[in-house]
Amino acid sequence: MDDLKGKYLGQIADAADETALESIRLAAIGKKGEISLKMRELGRMTPEERQVAGPALNALKDEINSALAAKKAALGDAALDERLRGEWLDVTLPSRPRRAGTLHPVSQAGEELTAIFADMGFSVAEGPRIETDWYNFDALNIPGHHPARAEMDTFYMHRAAGDNRPPNVLRTHTSPVQIRAMEAQGAPIRIICPGGVYRADYDQTHTPMFHQVEGLALDTDISMANLKWVLEEFCRAFFEIDDVELRFRASHFPFTEPSAEVDIRCSWAGGALRIGEGDDWMEILGSGMVHPSVIAAGGIDPEVYQGFAFGIGIDRLAMLKYGIPDLRAFFDSDLRWLRHYGFASLDVPTLRGGLSR
Ligand code: PHE
Repeated sequence: MDDLKGKYLGQIADAADETALESIRLAAIGKKGEISLKMRELGRMTPEERQVAGPALNALKDEINSALAAKKAALGDAALDERLRGEWLDVTLPSRPRRAGTLHPVSQAGEELTAIFADMGFSVAEGPRIETDWYNFDALNIPGHHPARAEMDTFYMHRAAGDNRPPNVLRTHTSPVQIRAMEAQGAPIRIICPGGVYRADYDQTHTPMFHQVEGLALDTDISMANLKWVLEEFCRAFFEIDDVELRFRASHFPFTEPSAEVDIRCSWAGGALRIGEGDDWMEILGSGMVHPSVIAAGGIDPEVYQGFAFGIGIDRLAMLKYGIPDLRAFFDSDLRWLRHYGFASLDVPTLRGGLSR
């Protein structure tokens, strides 16, 4: 009995893995194991012999079972330790040891303008970049034959042959979010929507994808005077200089009446773009009082609610504020440019802490 015990406990102690353990178990106490066979011989013993051998065999079987269980647990712990050692990671190391990433000027400008409008009570709304014909045009009072559709240089999505619905479009402006926000929230409402828009256009101040921030404010008593104040206040806060000069020009949009485009005084002298000086004007936004048909398309009663909307070019704001003369560079993904014009990613702009300093 002692030989058996010594043999199997020794094997268990030396077992390298669970497979080895299992074959030891089979050899000792499996159906045809050595100890099981011995237990079968008990029947052939005299009662006196059996009284000694029976309990001893049972005790041995128990001992082997617990040795197996203990070794199995120890093997599991060792495997876990091994894995923890292998997958060890120093979470205190800096994520970019040599060069921190930076925020793109468009992202930075987006964060800044969101902080400013949030302070004026606007919340952020969103909509899809692939938009239906209805949201991008019809709901905004731009019917099928309207010249504005052609003027916008729209990118149309493909439709399967035989599908006669009007094609979806890459949204040409953020104005469809006016409709979506009115549908979702009703009135009164005060929202902005920053996001990407698309038009087939390419030169120093136009790229096929660019960014706008839409604004919409509806209530029972909102006038053009409120629009003018909000835009002027916004520009002063955004450019962080008091002598920003704006020019409101009467204009036309199908979705506003009356409409105004706003230009900002700037200088291109010497190839550098500077704001607050010079004799040039750069158009930065379109705006106006929301057309009653648009309010109705959003599911709101235009007899009760009125208000203003605007669409500002975010990229243009960033060009002016940070003195970047060519818009195309914004989307070239040139690392040297990104490092030069990028912003520290952890400096969240706030009105209290300063927007861009
Ligand atoms: N959607 C217009 C554009 O992209 C801008 C605009 C928005 C004008 C809201 C008036 C009101 O040109």
